[in-house]
Amino acid sequence: MAAQKKERWASRIGLILAVAGNAVGLGNFLRFPAQAVDNGGGAFIIPYLVSFLLMGIPLLWVEWAIGRHGGQHGHHSTPGMLDVLGRSPILKYFGVFGIFTNLVVAAYYCYIESWTLAYSFYSITGAFNGMQPDEIATYFDNYLGSNSGGTFNFPVTAIIFFLITILLNLWILSKGISRGIEKASKILMPILFVFGIFLAIRALTLTAGELGAKHDAIDGLNFLWTPDMNALTNPKVWLAAAGQVFFTLSVGMGSILCYAAYLRKKDDVALNAVSAGFMNESVEVILGGSIVIPIAVAYMGLESLASYSGFGMSFKTLPTLFQNWGPIFAALGGFIWFSLLFFAGITSSLAMGQPVLAFLQDSFKFTRNKATIAFGITIFILAVPTIILYDAGAFGEYDFWAGTFSLVVFALGESVIFLWIFGIDKAWAEINKGADIKIPIFFKYVLKYVTPTFIIIVFVASLIQPAGGEWSQAFTSLFSGNGWPLDPGSVIGNVLHIGVEDPDKIFITNLVRILLVIVYAVIGTLVYLAWKIKFKEAK
Ligand code: PHE
Repeated sequence: MAAQKKERWASRIGLILAVAGNAVGLGNFLRFPAQAVDNGGGAFIIPYLVSFLLMGIPLLWVEWAIGRHGGQHGHHSTPGMLDVLGRSPILKYFGVFGIFTNLVVAAYYCYIESWTLAYSFYSITGAFNGMQPDEIATYFDNYLGSNSGGTFNFPVTAIIFFLITILLNLWILSKGISRGIEKASKILMPILFVFGIFLAIRALTLTAGELGAKHDAIDGLNFLWTPDMNALTNPKVWLAAAGQVFFTLSVGMGSILCYAAYLRKKDDVALNAVSAGFMNESVEVILGGSIVIPIAVAYMGLESLASYSGFGMSFKTLPTLFQNWGPIFAALGGFIWFSLLFFAGITSSLAMGQPVLAFLQDSFKFTRNKATIAFGITIFILAVPTIILYDAGAFGEYDFWAGTFSLVVFALGESVIFLWIFGIDKAWAEINKGADIKIPIFFKYVLKYVTPTFIIIVFVASLIQPAGGEWSQAFTSLFSGNGWPLDPGSVIGNVLHIGVEDPDKIFITNLVRILLVIVYAVIGTLVYLAWKIKFKEAK
């Protein structure tokens, strides 16, 4: 193992920017506003912040500590990291999640990332100038190759931008930790902050009557920041909030652990984890919350906000809204916005690539270039279904199983393995080794009891979430003998295709699921081989 030259972060500021780049992503600027709107704005904020403190921060400590510990044993991906925490040979197969999710999420994440690259190009070349709102919306559908009739999408331009995006990712990854990822983050993250601050100020100072705005943009901020206490008892909102915390902090994917594996033995993890977490949250609630929602509210009003949520909001509406700024500022606004998204996206997709590269390098002695090429080819192949079966729902399946469900499962597993099997005393010592802050001892109990319980509740609730998120009605129905009404969005409801009528859609969804299971099994087999060939002597 020692034969390979050890890679490291070159400086603390570089590490911090790389980790910020990892966490700050499309989740902050696209997913957060969409989730907040879907879940009632102010109703979302309290469950979100509570989930961040009780689950997000502790999980970050867990992941940083497991990662640094694994790195000391020569492991930079989760199968090996979990393997060295306990005696059971099963642990490494559970660690497969940390490769599986990164691969599958990278496939569709890089696809969205490529839309932002295309849209910054279209904005700066003035492609949207003079278009009517419905033309801009149709532009996006055409870009994705959507056609109302058929099942398949064949978006040629989108595929070209996707290939360019993958090549850019591979180019940076091939240069390694300090000369690739760290350097890219040092350049791109400051630009991202400046662009974000610029757009947030422009958004928030937009008043009714200015540049064609119909309302004050600040109304959008009030919508987000006026807490609604009633929602505290609605598990659906809690579930969405917890899901967003996972996604935005990059926890439950094995990506944070991988970055932490390139630390030295006594480097701090306690402070790094907390500062990375708070930095991501500031960008999310301050910048992520101050651009899309206020601009959309200024032009469309609060009432129409809900009908535009989701990814569509940015691609279908923002270019329209920027049109009011006159051709030059529309081009500039659009360019700044979409390139901000692209920078946020690429520094996150690099973080999904590195664990996969590390696994191939650690286990099969792949050179970095060879591992990079293998990663690129795999994500391209995995992305094909999401591209050509976009309308048929393949994209959504990837996001649900790999980008949402697996994160909760992995976070639960890794916390149990680290806090209970490895043991809370050793875990606590590991978190505090070399620490630059003193974590209050109270968190030891939060870690041991509160965090796992919290995740279990989220997990079980997501399995059986009742129709419309109406828990009391569901219990009434259950007790009156009418059974439990499952929501189509619940995990079990999803498995059973509840509410889906179209047989083609069910067929395609099932194929995608089989594909995902095969991907997991293939990685599992590679883990088996790696331990047979290389790591057996480590036991
Ligand atoms: N946190 C990133 C975002 O907000 C997504 C991500 C998840 C990145 C997991 C890396 C690993 O978009």
